[in-house]
Amino acid sequence: MHSEQDNRPALPALAIVVPTFNEHGNVAELVRRLHRTLGELDWEVVFVDDDSPDGTSAVVRNLACRDRRVRCVQRLGRRGLSSACIEGVLATCAPLIAIMDADLQHDESLLMAMWSAFAEPGLDVVIGSRYVEGGGVGEWAVSRQLASRLATRLGHLIVPDRLQDPMSGFFMMRREAFEQSLPHLSAVGFKILLDLFASSRRELRFIELPYTFRPRLAGESKLDEQVAWEYFMLLADKLVGRWIPVRFVAFGLIGLLGVGVHFAALFAAHRLLGWDFVPSQAVATLLAMAGNYTVNNLITYRDRRRRGWAWWSGLLSFGLVCSVGAIANVGVASHQFERDGRWVWAALAGILVGAVWNYAVTAFYTWGSRTRPSTASA
Ligand code: GDD
Ligand code: MN
Repeated sequence: MHSEQDNRPALPALAIVVPTFNEHGNVAELVRRLHRTLGELDWEVVFVDDDSPDGTSAVVRNLACRDRRVRCVQRLGRRGLSSACIEGVLATCAPLIAIMDADLQHDESLLMAMWSAFAEPGLDVVIGSRYVEGGGVGEWAVSRQLASRLATRLGHLIVPDRLQDPMSGFFMMRREAFEQSLPHLSAVGFKILLDLFASSRRELRFIELPYTFRPRLAGESKLDEQVAWEYFMLLADKLVGRWIPVRFVAFGLIGLLGVGVHFAALFAAHRLLGWDFVPSQAVATLLAMAGNYTVNNLITYRDRRRRGWAWWSGLLSFGLVCSVGAIANVGVASHQFERDGRWVWAALAGILVGAVWNYAVTAFYTWGSRTRPSTASA
């Protein structure tokens, strides 16, 4: 055992970083296949598991006890494919890093070709691509094919068109290229490759190698509507995040929705039920506030969603903060109105000040942000 360690060079030449969530039935087979394809190359595999309920971490650590090439990073209380990949890369010192799924959908036999491609000097990334000649998506339902095509189209808003499979989760990268993108990554959601390209401060030199996406071995996909939402957050962050935090955009849009709720409730109470204006307006305000809180809790802060008792205390703090926001709104608007008499501008100024206040203070008190509000840690 010890002599084996002493004979090994200190630095693995290649690290394969594998994010996992509920993949206990796949990891052993993946390690077996890595041994088969990578053979004597000096490699290690770093699994980054988000404390999977199915015990993936324990399975990986078991493998690690018998095989020094296997390592396990277990994260507690966290979720997210991209952030898992980032932490996996940071946990290894290998100069070349491959990112790969655990479910065997990515063809491990491509790893050697990726490795060899780095003989070309100056190359930053080699991508396993489903959309170049010779590659394919395998047995996908038409709906998933269309969704993937659409997502790829949208992705081209933020990465070069000649990158044909920016949604790929299978690629090999030079560590140095990764590190220079690192401080600028959004780290939200599933699309780590897209994020790397969109965040790099210099143009990345890449090639794409074809492979065919295989069916999953065991377990099920984690791609759900939350992942889709996070993808839009990532796109928005890359498009406007430099100037406005994306959560503020979501918060603002939901605020507009609240105006709709307000008028609907006001109309129902005042006109349909015949209540006086003041109680109608009060009820409409409360409903709009509660509605906004609910939707923000579901969407804007889905990664920090409050549930149970915390839902109610969140509603209270949201209500208090927004009441102060409303006072600020009216104060600023009346001041502005007295200065130049243009009521639309005065109202907009009031709304903007109120919205910024509500956003900034609820981000801190209601959804307790210890990180920057613009970057989700989910
Ligand atoms: N640590 C961690 N945390 N791992 C995760 C999480 C998470 O929250 N969510 C998913 N994973 C792991 C899975 O366990 C799997 O190893 C890998 O990330 C991919 O997840 P899947 O659920 O299998 O995703 P998919 O097959 O639908 O999507 C894959 O293909 C897409 C191409 O259409 C991924 O590779 C995507 O990145 C890729 O875009
Ligand atoms: Mn998969």
